[in-house]
Amino acid sequence: MPSPAQRVMQNPLFAQIYEHLWRPTFTRLFSFGGAATEDYDRALRAYLSRPGERLMLDVACGPGNYTRLIADGLTGDGRCIGIDYSAPMLARAADTNQAARAQYIRADAHSIPFPDSTFDITTCLAALYLIPDPLPVLDELVRVTRPGGEVIVFTSVATEASRLPGVRQIAGLSGFHIFGEREIVDRLRAAGLRSVEQTITGQGQYVIGIKPDTPGVGV
Ligand SMILES: C[S@@+](CC[C@H](N)C(=O)[O-])C[C@H]1O[C@@H](n2cnc3c(N)ncnc32)[C@H](O)[C@@H]1O
Repeated sequence: MPSPAQRVMQNPLFAQIYEHLWRPTFTRLFSFGGAATEDYDRALRAYLSRPGERLMLDVACGPGNYTRLIADGLTGDGRCIGIDYSAPMLARAADTNQAARAQYIRADAHSIPFPDSTFDITTCLAALYLIPDPLPVLDELVRVTRPGGEVIVFTSVATEASRLPGVRQIAGLSGFHIFGEREIVDRLRAAGLRSVEQTITGQGQYVIGIKPDTPGVGV
């Protein structure tokens, strides 16, 4: 049975308010008790939207808020493909975040419909915590990223605040998963990424890792 959070993602009204109302508020809430998630998000957006001819994949793209931003920075044959399994989110992306170098596909993040080693950068932002059985999605992100490419994840992380009695249980009831401090980093390393860097900003974590040219080489 879908969790409340999963049901919300299928709601056309939520798809409409997501980008400009929900996402900025949620990003701000993630800063609770720590460094400003908004500042890191701004830096990440600048990094992702820098000019260049890259093939990018935005997994669980929602209404295409990051897909469009990334696509607008690309040049030449560069493309950003957003995938999501919610039809209302993709309809919203088609309405509001079309761009010459953006494409949207309905697909499940557990089974990304692209061959191994396709993308220069693969992102999965603000989504893993909503996905039941999320860790195999990380393996998929690594699989479709080319050697030398990057995987970038933003998700939840356990902190002193979320370890307070009842917090994880209440979050769990709504379908929101709070990841252990090393869970994402360890899984990405096990999947083959190297130079994995984790930045914890309040209740959220940004994790960036590189897929080595030679499997198993690098720190
Ligand atoms: C909160 S939105 C994130 C949108 C955008 N990435 C962002 O950073 O604002 C989460 C998205 O994950 C999608 N999602 C959840 N589980 C998924 C799955 N198994 N496969 C693909 N998309 C999924 C939902 O449909 C929703 O659009």
